[in-house]
Amino acid sequence: MPPSARETLEALRRLPREAAARAHVPYSQRPTAAVLLLEDGRSVPGVRVESASFSLLIPALVNAFSTAVACGRTDVAAVAMSRAFLPEERALLHALPWGSFIEADADVFVRNDLETLPALSERLSPYLEAGAPQDPAAGVALAREVARRAHVPESGFPVGCVLETAAGELIPGVNVEHTDWARILCAERNALGTAISYGLAGLRRLYLTCLKDPTGTPCGACRQLLVELAPEAALWMDRGDDTPEAASPHGLLPGSFSGRALAERRGKGVDV
Ligand code: THU
Repeated sequence: MPPSARETLEALRRLPREAAARAHVPYSQRPTAAVLLLEDGRSVPGVRVESASFSLLIPALVNAFSTAVACGRTDVAAVAMSRAFLPEERALLHALPWGSFIEADADVFVRNDLETLPALSERLSPYLEAGAPQDPAAGVALAREVARRAHVPESGFPVGCVLETAAGELIPGVNVEHTDWARILCAERNALGTAISYGLAGLRRLYLTCLKDPTGTPCGACRQLLVELAPEAALWMDRGDDTPEAASPHGLLPGSFSGRALAERRGKGVDV
């Protein structure tokens, strides 16, 4: 490996260790992050995002790839993690359709057809380059644009959303599918995962479209994550030719599981 590539890898592998500080890990206290190096040198972070319903975990590596896809990027040159890759993470990398990767170190994989690695530049901006929507219909129109980036080889059912922060940032989300359905991430959780990976707060509005279903609503898993991560957000759902329908996370999931007892249990130092 040429010295410049070695330097790039050393710079890259520092990034997930820094990004891990943004992981949402109230239940395990085990922060983990992955960072993708894109072919233009930009980097994409993905952190571990836990749910009170443990199996709804967004793994760091899934989060990073889903963010990249929502941003329209699949040109991944290398991937680093904040610790050594686990067997299931190696398996995910090998199953991805965006190139095959080989191990450079226990915590770094590179695409095997690359002659040279791009020098690391800045972090990829995850934001849509659009002004804040003036009304729900404009927000839903943006979500429809975003939905074109969905990766849906399994369902052919593209979903797109835009998560708006109080600061006016617009974060895209699309569904990203894998042959292993257990790894599929919905559009809403994709956007939530991106917001956490980038340390964004004040999640105010979510515009959602299921392009092929004008009656579409967030699935149960997304409702749970919305209640946990964006409980105050106003939701606007695409209703085709009709005006968008309003909803709220708690309205969509009354009596939701809070996980409060789980956090208290850990707080008391009980060994789990
Ligand atoms: N899907 C979403 O992205 N959001 C939802 O709330 C409903 C379901 C995706 C997941 C999967 O890729 C496809 O739609 C079929 O379930």
